[in-house]
Amino acid sequence: MLLSSLILLSGLSFATAACSPTEEPANTEEPTPAPEPEPTPEPQPGNGHTLVVYFSCTNTTKGIAERIAEITDGALHRIVPETPYTSEDLNYNNSSSRANREQNDPAARPAISSKIENFSDYDVVFLGYPIWWGKAPKIIHTFLESLNLSGKTIVPFCTSHSSGIGSSDIDLHESAEKAAWKKGKRFNGNESAGTIKDWIESMNLNLNQNSNVGVFNLSKGENGKAPTVRLSSGYDMPIVGLGTYSLHGDVCVNSVKAALASGFRKIDTAHMYDNEEEVGQGVRESGVPREEIFVATKLYPNQFSNPEAAIEECLRKLDIGYIDLMLLHHPGTDDVKAYKAMEKYVAQGKIRSIGLSNYYIKEMTEFLPQVNIKPVLVQNEIHPYYQEKGIVEYMHSQGIVVEAWYPLGGRGHTAALLGNETISKIANAHGKSSAQVILRWDLQRGVVVIPGSSNPDHIKENISIFDFELTDEEMSQIAALDRNEKHDWY
Ligand SMILES: NC(=O)c1ccc[n+]([C@@H]2O[C@H](COP(=O)([O-])OP(=O)(O)OC[C@H]3O[C@@H](n4cnc5c(N)ncnc54)[C@H](OP(=O)(O)O)[C@@H]3O)[C@@H](O)[C@H]2O)c1
Ligand SMILES: Cc1cc2nc3c(=O)[nH]c(=O)nc-3n(C[C@H](O)[C@H](O)[C@H](O)COP(=O)(O)O)c2cc1C
Repeated sequence: MLLSSLILLSGLSFATAACSPTEEPANTEEPTPAPEPEPTPEPQPGNGHTLVVYFSCTNTTKGIAERIAEITDGALHRIVPETPYTSEDLNYNNSSSRANREQNDPAARPAISSKIENFSDYDVVFLGYPIWWGKAPKIIHTFLESLNLSGKTIVPFCTSHSSGIGSSDIDLHESAEKAAWKKGKRFNGNESAGTIKDWIESMNLNLNQNSNVGVFNLSKGENGKAPTVRLSSGYDMPIVGLGTYSLHGDVCVNSVKAALASGFRKIDTAHMYDNEEEVGQGVRESGVPREEIFVATKLYPNQFSNPEAAIEECLRKLDIGYIDLMLLHHPGTDDVKAYKAMEKYVAQGKIRSIGLSNYYIKEMTEFLPQVNIKPVLVQNEIHPYYQEKGIVEYMHSQGIVVEAWYPLGGRGHTAALLGNETISKIANAHGKSSAQVILRWDLQRGVVVIPGSSNPDHIKENISIFDFELTDEEMSQIAALDRNEKHDWY
C-alpha cells in the first residue's frame, strides 16, 4: 500500500510531508484535544435506527465502520466517489496531487456516485472518514450537503496515521447545522471491538439495536449462503431455512443433509412433525460443524401443561447439544407457563432463543406483558395470497422477526401460486423460477423463509435467490395479489 510504505520509509510526520505552506500542521502523536462543539439541536425522539456511513480509500475506516455496524446492528453504507482516488491522487508528498488540491480548495466538493436508500428512516448516523491533513476529506462535505439532516444525530469517527480527530469533526458542522452532533473519535485500524463498544455505550445514544429486524442486508447474501438477521437474544439466524413438515425417515435425514450441503444453515422442525430425531441425525451426519447450524423446534399445545418434560424430550430427540430456537406452536391453555419454562432453559443455556408461532396482533399484545424474555420471532402463515401486511409491520415495530410458513402456499396449493400469471411473468423476466421469486419477495419485505422440500434440486434452487433483485414495481405487483386466502386453519 502506497501510503503505509511511505509512512514506514520516511518516518516523517504528515505535517512536514504533506501540508502546503498555508496549512496548519496536522500531525500530533497524541490526539489533538478538540474544542467543545457548539450546542446543536436535540433530535426528536425517534426510532433509534442506525446507519453507519463511511468513506475509505485504503479500507482502514471501512474496518472500523464494519465493527460499528456489527455492534449497533446498523445498516452500512460506503460513500463511493464518482471518480475513484488512485494512489497518485492520494500522494500527500505531491503538493499538486488531487487530494492536496481538494483539501486546499474551500469550494471543492468531489461528486458521489453511491446513493442511500431510505435515509429518512435513520435517526443516528455514524460518519467515518480518514484524516487528510488534519481534516475530513472534502467528499464528506459533499455527502452532508446532499441530504436533509434535520433531526439526525451524527457521530463522527475517523482513522489516521497518528493525528487525532482534531477539529475535523467540528468543521463538518457547518455542512449540517440542523443535525445534533456528538463529539468525534479517532481509531486505530486495529481497534478492538471492546473499545469501540465502550465508546458507543458511553454516548447513551438510545439505539434501537433490534430495530432492523425487518430490513435484511441482502447484498451480503450469495447463492448457497444466506445472510443472517440479529435476533433480540443477540444470536444471528439465517434468513433462509429448510422446513421439514411432513418429511420422515430417510427422506427427512437426506433432505436435511442435502440442504446443509447446498449451504442452508437453518432447519425448522417441531414436536408435531414427529421428525426431530431424523433432523438431529441429518445435522450430526452432515459434516457441518454444529455451531454453524441453527435448529428451530416447537412445543405443541398438548405439551404445555408439562413443559419441562416436553423440552427435555426435544433435547433428547434432537441430540445436538442445545436448541437454537424454540417456539410455542400455537396459542393455547398454559402457553405462558410453557413459555416461562423455556425462559428457564434459556438461563441454563440449553435453549438460545425463544419465540412464538401462529400469534397475531391480539394474541401477541396479550402475551408480551406476561413474560420476561421478549419473543425473538413469530412464525406465521405468509404467502402472496395471505400476506399479513399489518401483522408483519406490527411485529417489526416490536423488534420481532417474522418468518413465513407455507411460503410457497403449502402442499396442495403450490401449483396455484407457482403458476400465478403475475409471478410467472416476473420469474421469466429474471430467468428465475416462480418459487425463487416468491422467496425473494419475502426477503425483500423483511420476512424470513423456510420452504419445505425433499427434492435436492428444489432445495438448491430455494437458496439461490441472491443474484437478482425485484424492482419496486414487481414488489408492488406481488403485494397486489393478496386475497386473504388462508391455506390452513391456524
Ligand atoms: N408453525 C406452523 O404452524 C407451521 C405450519 C406449517 C408449516 N410450517 C413450517 O413451514 C415449512 C414450510 O411449509 P411447507 O413445507 O408445509 O410448505 P411450502 O414450503 O409452502 O411448500 C412445500 C411444497 O413446495 C414444494 N417446493 C419446494 N420448493 C420448490 C421449488 N423450488 N419449486 C417447486 N416446488 C417446490 C415442495 O415439494 P418438493 O418436496 O417436491 O420440493 C412441497 O410440496 C414447513 O416445512 C414447516 O417447517 C410451520
Ligand atoms: C492525502 C492523505 C493525507 C493524510 N493526512 C494525514 C494526517 O494529516 N495525519 C495522519 O495521521 N494521517 C494522515 N493520513 C493517513 C490516513 O489518515 C490514514 O492512513 C487513514 O487511516 C486512511 O484511511 P482509509 O484506509 O479508510 O482511507 C493521510 C492520508 C492521505 C491519503
